[in-house]
Amino acid sequence: MKENKKKVYLKYWGCQMNVRDSEVICGLLKKEGYGLVNEPDKADIILLNTCSVREHAEDKVWSEIGRIGKLSPLDFVQKTHKIKTGETPRPTNKIVGLVGCMAQAYKQKVFDRAPNVNFVVGPSDIDKIPGIINRLSTTKIRETEGTIRPEDIYHTGFYEKRNNTYVVVSEGCSNYCSYCVVPYVRGDLKNRNHKDIIREVEEAVGKGITKITLLGQNVNAYLSKVISSQPSVNFIELLKLVNQIEGIEEFSFITSHPKDTSVELFRVMASLGKLKKSLHLPIQSGSDRILAMMNRGYTKKFYLELVTNYRKIVKDSVLSTDIIVGYPQETDKDFQETFDLVKDIEFDAAYIFKYSARPNTKAAELADDLPRAVKEKRHKIILDLQKGISKKKRC
Ligand code: SAH
Ligand code: SF4
Ligand code: F3S
Repeated sequence: MKENKKKVYLKYWGCQMNVRDSEVICGLLKKEGYGLVNEPDKADIILLNTCSVREHAEDKVWSEIGRIGKLSPLDFVQKTHKIKTGETPRPTNKIVGLVGCMAQAYKQKVFDRAPNVNFVVGPSDIDKIPGIINRLSTTKIRETEGTIRPEDIYHTGFYEKRNNTYVVVSEGCSNYCSYCVVPYVRGDLKNRNHKDIIREVEEAVGKGITKITLLGQNVNAYLSKVISSQPSVNFIELLKLVNQIEGIEEFSFITSHPKDTSVELFRVMASLGKLKKSLHLPIQSGSDRILAMMNRGYTKKFYLELVTNYRKIVKDSVLSTDIIVGYPQETDKDFQETFDLVKDIEFDAAYIFKYSARPNTKAAELADDLPRAVKEKRHKIILDLQKGISKKKRC
């Protein structure tokens, strides 16, 4: 471990992928001797690991950047210096780095909107963060080339929690659902080699971890990256391999895409002793018309059949979903179909989101034509329905 007195504060938003990426970044910095602190004002370096999936997620980050500006004396110093001399001084105080999906989405435009940010690093370039912090002095740095992450970053041995962690099986996504920014900020699907994944799980077990969650935007599409002449392993085979690892007590996976989910997966879920009987299967909408517009690749009927089979095959299982309300051109009838579906299926949990247009996506070419009040009303209706269902299920 290198000696380095600098302190880092990291805050993150977004999905589990960002939770794990944050842990990876902290592990890389710890290896370089940086200390981790829980409060931004105690830090020399502030890292914001961001999410771009909805407009609201980005709004939270912009306000955090503003808060950091106020919190640091730098802002005041910069302003007074500018008044006195007419020139903008170079940052002398805290280093602020914007990392993750927003960095990839906005690249150097971040510097125009948030001058107190010193560098931006996209999700595929997080391995470069320690080097950037080291050489950052005069110019602003943008590292958003979307290169391939080196395998090493997953093996720093740093874990935030004592007995559980996430293990990435694949990065990015090639599904291009019409509303979704993920393929644009995380790139196309990139699978890790299964031997590396198993080695990472074993290392985690060595550190006392007994529970893991396998992570990917669409885990069911996993097919191990082939290196040398090893035979390829699919997601079901990977589950079997993880189940055999001594020291693992329980494991689960997220997220599943209905189009790649099969009865075979349910049979394996039922048969593997350590695998949690839990499935997160985002439906997004109950209307076939909207599902087609979303480029989801399945129909309501297909989804309902999956649910019936899942519940029949995997006993005492849990089912959760994601739903978007207010997609462009969603009619009362489309919405009613989503309502009816949520009522019929009785999910254990449902995460309901109001549609917001995302840069580069296909859906952003359509007018975001539903008034905010309509989106809010539809959001509340499904939320209330689900609250009632969840309450009933808990009793
Ligand atoms: N890979 C996962 C999760 C993607 S992001 C999947 O395929 O389901 C998590 C959720 O955010 C999505 O399931 C979707 O419900 C929601 N979401 C994505 N883009 C959105 C947008 N533009 N507006 C509103 N919600 C969105
Ligand atoms: Fe986005 Fe669709 Fe990929 Fe999920 S499957 S990350 S919603 S493009
Ligand atoms: Fe957000 Fe990026 Fe995850 S956009 S949902 S943090 S992959």
